[in-house]
Amino acid sequence: MDFFLDTANLDQIREGVELGIIDGVTTNPSLMAKEGIKGEAAVHAHYRAICELVGGDVSAEVISTDYDGMLREGERLAALHPNIVVKIPCTKDGIRAICKFTDELGIRTNCTLVFSLGQALLAAKAGATYVSPFVGRLDDVSEDGIALVRDIVNIYTAYAYDTQVIAASIRHTRHIIQCLDANADVATCPLSAILGLLNHPLTDIGIARFLADYKKVNG
Ligand code: E4P
Repeated sequence: MDFFLDTANLDQIREGVELGIIDGVTTNPSLMAKEGIKGEAAVHAHYRAICELVGGDVSAEVISTDYDGMLREGERLAALHPNIVVKIPCTKDGIRAICKFTDELGIRTNCTLVFSLGQALLAAKAGATYVSPFVGRLDDVSEDGIALVRDIVNIYTAYAYDTQVIAASIRHTRHIIQCLDANADVATCPLSAILGLLNHPLTDIGIARFLADYKKVNG
């Protein structure tokens, strides 16, 4: 399973990349706003900076909600760097735009804001490179986000769709382990959730004991 960082924060991306286990980045307009990035020129410069930091795919989301706007914006985003994947919401105009990007423009897409198997089916039929079911936001409304990831993976496998499943809206370390069990292709996570995988008290106790034994002999 690949790890993407779900952030637009350059320091966190740098820290994750230095760790050596980050395969890409996803962003959204809220994450860009959190970094105080305003205006198209600044947004584009920020995406270029992210692409220079990380070796893999970087999802850049359109803010247009109409077909023509999505195409215009998506083409500009895709031209910024070969690793940019245009992130498009799962709406009627969005599905139409994904078809156009896939079939005619050779631009890779991430179909986002997916909350049902039906939406994931349309994303795959449109030829999206990635689909992003939002695990945490489904859990927030008493639905089972991980079950949706598992269902999408099973259906894509059964029908041999190429679209890769990014488990998104990951809130904590346990979600990551559940994504593994659901056979997600990618989990896009906050850095804190990934670092949480390292935590085990027996590791800390083991290090302390090894050092104490070493010191007994070596002083
Ligand atoms: C997906 O790519 C989104 O950027 C993200 O995972 C949304 O997560 P949230 O529900 O924590 O905002």
